[in-house]
Amino acid sequence: MKAGIDLISFYSSNYFLDLKTLAEARGVDFNKFYIGIGQEKMALPPPDEDIVTMAASAAQPIIEKVGRENIELVVLATESCIDQSKAASLFVHGLLGLPKRCRAIELKEACYGATAGLQLAAAWVEKNPEAKALILASDIARYDLGSPGEPTQGCGAVAMLVSTKPRIMTLDPECGYHAEDVMDFWRPTYRGEALVDGKYSTRVYLSTIIEAWNQYRERSGRTLSDLARCCFHLPFTKIAEKAYERLAKACGLPSPTDADFELRLRESLRYNRITGNSYTASLYEGLNSLLDHSTADLSSQRIGLFSYGSGCMAEFFSGVVQPGYRQHLFTEKHLALLNNRTELTFQQYEDIFNYGVPEDGGNHSMAPYRTGPYRLAGIKDHKRLYEKSR
Ligand code: COA
Repeated sequence: MKAGIDLISFYSSNYFLDLKTLAEARGVDFNKFYIGIGQEKMALPPPDEDIVTMAASAAQPIIEKVGRENIELVVLATESCIDQSKAASLFVHGLLGLPKRCRAIELKEACYGATAGLQLAAAWVEKNPEAKALILASDIARYDLGSPGEPTQGCGAVAMLVSTKPRIMTLDPECGYHAEDVMDFWRPTYRGEALVDGKYSTRVYLSTIIEAWNQYRERSGRTLSDLARCCFHLPFTKIAEKAYERLAKACGLPSPTDADFELRLRESLRYNRITGNSYTASLYEGLNSLLDHSTADLSSQRIGLFSYGSGCMAEFFSGVVQPGYRQHLFTEKHLALLNNRTELTFQQYEDIFNYGVPEDGGNHSMAPYRTGPYRLAGIKDHKRLYEKSR
């Protein structure tokens, strides 16, 4: 019996800013963004969208397909929390009408949280083979306007159903991990925007991948050529090439060529390149992008996955794509969403960025924007009120 990802679904906002627009406004050559960091567009949530509505919208297709039965664990990983006490998973649990006989929690460790959730869920379903777990990763990446982090903003959510009869990917038992107390990226509770020492963070990311990889390799006996494709946490997509290069070097392989990058990485970068960073969801958005775009049939192929959360926690693990996986993907839904987004002007971007949810405890309704199937309807007495938008 092998646990793993039974279904996977992705959601992001219906609004985006082209980084050419940002580059022009900030007086920067847009190729710094398009080529230098590998980002073209960033998704921005309108005022009536938040991590709860995005997570529920990501999960909705899964619930429509398989129903709610036996979902006994809901984990929502985020670093964009909306409440210091109540778990965001409980709002999603309510919106989706999930069974009351259920554990629902929120997890945090920067962008790594969803991996902790996935590994916990896999171990848990192996002990409870009839039960299923819903793992949600939902985030809004925000940095100060005009800061180096600004072009690496974005938002998105991924929902994964975990079971002992996974139709998408079984998870290998071997993994390598690395924890270290560093200050590369953080967000004190009184700030809405993250603080990041971007270059230091990139260095830590690239050194911890080797620590995690070495343990993965010792435990599994595998090398890089045993992995048909690799998916990485993507604060910006260019980092995947740097990470893959490091892994190749650690395995004593020649430096990867453009053709290697094209084969091993490119399909996993397509969504992230046009949504920006989605923190906890980013690695799984990349996996979804790979599964949705791969021209080759990945059935029975092993995929390497690297999860990184600043602070920091790193993990290298792998999984095997299941035969017939293609018929269980939500590719059309994902492409319809991303191909029909509304482009923002620079002024609209700054207006949305500067919008702050009311904090006075009054009764506020939110103006309707284009959202997924759920929206934040208003805030009353400091309570968020959600509704179905269609
Ligand atoms: N054409 C092509 N490439 C260009 C260019 C141009 N006109 N101008 C610059 N570049 C390249 C640079 O050479 C550099 O590439 P390299 O890293 O391979 O050397 C890249 O673009 C970025 O330029 P740089 O000057 O380093 O950018 P920056 O100081 O603005 O910072 C980040 C870039 C990624 C560090 C910054 O956006 C950041 O901090 N982002 C947040 C990252 C994050 O969230 N980390 C934490 C979680 S993992």
